Amino acid sequence: MKKVSPTISSYLEQTKDLLGDKLYLSKDISDIEAESNSSEVSSSLVEYSNQISDCEKCSLHSIRTNFVFGVGNPSADIVFVGEAPGKQEDLLGEPFVGRAGKLLDKIIAAINLTRDDIYICNVLKCRPPDNRNPNTSEVEQCEPYLKTQLKIIEPKLIVALGRVAAKTLLKVDLPLGEMRKQSYSYEGIDAIVTYHPAALLRNPAFKRPCWEDFQKIRDNYLNKG
Ligand code: URA
Repeated sequence: MKKVSPTISSYLEQTKDLLGDKLYLSKDISDIEAESNSSEVSSSLVEYSNQISDCEKCSLHSIRTNFVFGVGNPSADIVFVGEAPGKQEDLLGEPFVGRAGKLLDKIIAAINLTRDDIYICNVLKCRPPDNRNPNTSEVEQCEPYLKTQLKIIEPKLIVALGRVAAKTLLKVDLPLGEMRKQSYSYEGIDAIVTYHPAALLRNPAFKRPCWEDFQKIRDNYLNKG
């Protein structure tokens, strides 16, 4: 039998106190369940963020302004995973708020999504100095955080933005042009790889294949009722 969530259980208790054994629902039970699941997911993500945000596992903690946990819809069907916070992200405590982030906003808008529909986070939660690539030990220390975030959110699709995210999540190390042609599974969740928006800023020739990837996301994961 399906377990009733604590939120629904307390709603039913209150209704019983007020109205007796008869149940009067102004909303469909599945709507109530979806709302309660979403607030539970949201509170567990917030709790998890509070638990880990003073992390000192690697040396990056000593130079960070902010621990950049992630933003967006805690019940999102799609999670985008980048590499690591840059300067703006470190200052504001939010992923993808610099130039690459503005481009990501435009790309997701082109498939009729906003930041409120999706969830965005990074492999590393702290900024590497001068935006250098994350090193192996930093990735190893930080990866469990990403793993838990994804477990809490349970999206339908994970989009790895660039090679660092793809290598970390999918344990494959191929040229990005190869990886984006494959479909992957991460802990039972569909996963795909596309270009990091910063790569599109450096090389506009990547824009077309990236747009093809986002069209596939739109056609396969959105508007499916
Ligand atoms: N690049 C990333 O990979 N993540 C950010 O949050 C910003 C830039």
